Amino acid sequence: MSERRPGTGEGGPQRRLPAAAEPSGSSRPARAPHLATGARAGVVPDQQGERAIVTRAQRRRARAGQITRRQLLRVSFWGFFTFSLTGALGAFLSNFWPRNVTGFGGKISVAAAVVPEAGADPSAVPIGKFYLSHLNAGEGTHAGFGEEGDQGLLALWWKCPHLGCTIPWRADFPFEGSSGWFRCPCHGSTYTNGGIRVFGPAPRPMDTMEITVNPDGSLTVDSGRITKGGQDNPRRTVPYA
Ligand code: FES
Repeated sequence: MSERRPGTGEGGPQRRLPAAAEPSGSSRPARAPHLATGARAGVVPDQQGERAIVTRAQRRRARAGQITRRQLLRVSFWGFFTFSLTGALGAFLSNFWPRNVTGFGGKISVAAAVVPEAGADPSAVPIGKFYLSHLNAGEGTHAGFGEEGDQGLLALWWKCPHLGCTIPWRADFPFEGSSGWFRCPCHGSTYTNGGIRVFGPAPRPMDTMEITVNPDGSLTVDSGRITKGGQDNPRRTVPYA
């Protein structure tokens, strides 16, 4: 039989060895048990001013509940950016969004005195960039161009459908035996007083705007509601007594 030696684990009850003894008289603090696993530690003062051992994992957990300086800067930057963007967008909309527009793009009031007589030369309304043309029944067509309509008013946008030049009314301009045409100075497109194209490179007749006749004989022309010109321009007239 082999002899049992106490404390060797070879048979017999295990005896716990005492904690590692430091050499008597040593000034080194006792090492925490968790340091045996290799965790790095720091020494920081606790609330009582005493020194406590804190591992890196403990620091990380402590930081997780705090806002770091970098996070604070990031939040501040995005807050300021969002605030600035919102302000700039508001300023843009207030300046460029059409609200109660009284010039071109909005509703234009036209006094009754400005409305031309039926068959007279069209009147220009510069603030709305259009002409008021008062056609007699069947007027505004030429040589098979355009569809005849009833007597009434037509608001014609003065922008040429070709390349956008402003079209003047030329009361003295002769064309195919008569005078009085819209004649574009850029490439010569020519239109009747109903805006029907009879000559030139323009792809269509002049565009029209919506007219409302008021009880006092004045008009409200919505220069923001423009309809592409067509052969039916003379049939778009609004009756006007
Ligand atoms: S822009 Fe009017 S004809 Fe070309």
